[in-house]
Amino acid sequence: MALTIPDFTPLQASLWLTLCGRALDNRLSHPILGDQMADEIVRKVDYDYKNLHIPSSSAIYIAHRAKKMDEVAQRFIARHPDAVGLDLGAGLDSRVLRIAPPPTVDWYDIDFPEVIAARRQLLPDDATPHGVGADLTDPGWLDLLPTDRPAVIVADGLIAFLSEEEMISLAGRLISHFPSGEIAFNGYSRFAVWAQKRFAGARTITGVTKFPGFDDPRVPERWNPKLKLVKEILCSREPEVAAFPLGLRLANRLSAPSASLSRKGNVVLHYRF
Ligand SMILES: C[S@@+](CC[C@H](N)C(=O)[O-])C[C@H]1O[C@@H](n2cnc3c(N)ncnc32)[C@H](O)[C@@H]1O
Repeated sequence: MALTIPDFTPLQASLWLTLCGRALDNRLSHPILGDQMADEIVRKVDYDYKNLHIPSSSAIYIAHRAKKMDEVAQRFIARHPDAVGLDLGAGLDSRVLRIAPPPTVDWYDIDFPEVIAARRQLLPDDATPHGVGADLTDPGWLDLLPTDRPAVIVADGLIAFLSEEEMISLAGRLISHFPSGEIAFNGYSRFAVWAQKRFAGARTITGVTKFPGFDDPRVPERWNPKLKLVKEILCSREPEVAAFPLGLRLANRLSAPSASLSRKGNVVLHYRF
């Protein structure tokens, strides 16, 4: 029998888009991420993902960007085995199981209390070593985290739901809390803002997005003087494109030479502080 689907607000329910995206990627003959846990949860709650109208191209992009953020976290942890990891707006993602950090690392998943409670109900215990149930725009939650360890921070699918002021202030609090670290999040271009209002798959989140979008990867450097761009990861140029289905592979190959075209697609932005 399927488990009861938690009663989320529309903002919290945005987690189904990314979770189902990764689950659908896992069902492809050549998955990009291969997130079996996402697939398992979607099956366990018998989530009606068809209602979300997620095209397979979007599922692949969601999986691909998650993989790029996993890689940023894994590389950071390899260099800093004493690190703390943060997944901001973690939803029901079991990233810590994919990146498998050593026991010297403390991994924190932060999302609204209802989402953290749902993680405890739907995911195995080791998928949430430290769950923090909080509104990320509330400054208090960071007090629970150590201040003396380098931090790798990922925010996969969060940025669209914060205003620019909220994002800048969150980045500022993170940067002043930790001695050093890296941050990676999905790019949210002006084209994505425009497309999101027109794409059936995004209908469920249209009323809850706030971020205005930006195209220049250097914009966040102006949010805080300590924030420096490490890499604008234009996913069209990444090796996984070789495993994309033909049409999507061709579209990515054609856009890859142009940064401005690639920015209209899937981008992960990676900074250090
Ligand atoms: C699109 S989902 C992405 C979830 C997850 N990162 C993933 O990839 O599956 C966005 C997540 O951000 C969370 N979120 C949005 N605004 C938030 C806030 N102010 N405080 C805490 N969580 C927030 C939502 O609850 C949701 O789980």
